[in-house]
Amino acid sequence: MNDDARRMPGPPPPTAVRTVGDPDLAALVGRAVAHHGRVERATHHFHTYPAGMHPDSARDLIGTLDTPAPGIHDPFCGGGTVPTEALLAGRPASGTDLSPIALWVTRTRTARPEHAGGLRRASRKIAALAREHGPVRIPEIAHEWYEPHVLDELGRIRAEVEEVEDPSVQKLLLAVLSSIVIKASFRESDTSNRRRPYHRPPGTTAILFHKKARELGRMLDQLPGEGEVRVRLGDARRVGPPKRTGLVLTSPPYPGVYDYVPMQQLRYAWLDLDPSRGMVGEVGSRRQFRSQGRRDALAVWRKDTRAWIACQAERLLPGGFFAITIGDGLVGGRPVDTLGPTVGALESAGLTIAARASADRPDHARATTRTEHLVLARRPVT
Ligand SMILES: C[S@@+](CC[C@H](N)C(=O)[O-])C[C@H]1O[C@@H](n2cnc3c(N)ncnc32)[C@H](O)[C@@H]1O
Repeated sequence: MNDDARRMPGPPPPTAVRTVGDPDLAALVGRAVAHHGRVERATHHFHTYPAGMHPDSARDLIGTLDTPAPGIHDPFCGGGTVPTEALLAGRPASGTDLSPIALWVTRTRTARPEHAGGLRRASRKIAALAREHGPVRIPEIAHEWYEPHVLDELGRIRAEVEEVEDPSVQKLLLAVLSSIVIKASFRESDTSNRRRPYHRPPGTTAILFHKKARELGRMLDQLPGEGEVRVRLGDARRVGPPKRTGLVLTSPPYPGVYDYVPMQQLRYAWLDLDPSRGMVGEVGSRRQFRSQGRRDALAVWRKDTRAWIACQAERLLPGGFFAITIGDGLVGGRPVDTLGPTVGALESAGLTIAARASADRPDHARATTRTEHLVLARRPVT
């Protein structure tokens, strides 16, 4: 097991699953919400992304639901689980996210296998050059997070990637760089800004880069050579699915749990990305709960939930499905019910709830139980 696998074992098995609704669909959502453990299929485990949907859950829904058109849309596409599963199933996929890193990861996870050879060749050369010495450009905020020789290796890797002529290969190489910048740093993890003492021997950052690039190459080899995946920067409360979407499948942020956009600060710096558009408009962000307090922030979250669900539902085809995975939030150590407001917002948007399932899982870190819901709604055929 490598380090990433230890850090990301996937969700534990549920201790209980409850289902409601049409028997066949309830059985489907009950099965889909219960998946656990890490999935090694295709590109799913390339690059960490917090609170990703379980790939088997997306696969079950995509493979089973009888939709009026093949298009699948994820308005909070994050690390790209849904677009990747849609691609593997041969279905056209689209998505939005407010985080430029989310889009970068999604595009990498759904890239064309034809670029794998170029990626391997370029990464071998870059890893060798990264061990040389000399001045390199380092992002200002990076200085406090790395040992000096690690900083040098990362800076040189980035400088060499900038020289790569093929833009598709260059983007994949930047995604590889992004996949190692937290691991090589003093940061505890993607989701924690805490510093941990950490020594990485000289030369091993370049080796890690090369290893991750080869891994990505092997993963891309498992993807189909063709398919349509279109993701773009967009606010799910305002940007809906394209015409002819038969399934909206998504997992929005759980209220008060993460700050998705700011938590990628180091990655924006290394990839020269501007996160400012995404800093406003993040649904359910933890910082909003901290600054506004539980009651007011919950009122905003409910309003945002109604807004994004109405926006997505409006363009869903009659007979189309809308599936949402959402866990109960956590604010000040107290749970926040997400099921009631989600069901209410779907019904207000004119959809019918076909089935739903809720799974309880142990949260060992907080010595409690967390509940995750999968709600399946349908646009009536008028
Ligand atoms: C739970 S994650 C999605 C994970 C994704 N399903 C996956 O499997 O990787 C929620 C995502 O919502 C994004 N987000 C938050 N507010 C948003 C908004 N208003 N519009 C679009 N995306 C938003 C965050 O950047 C984050 O990537």
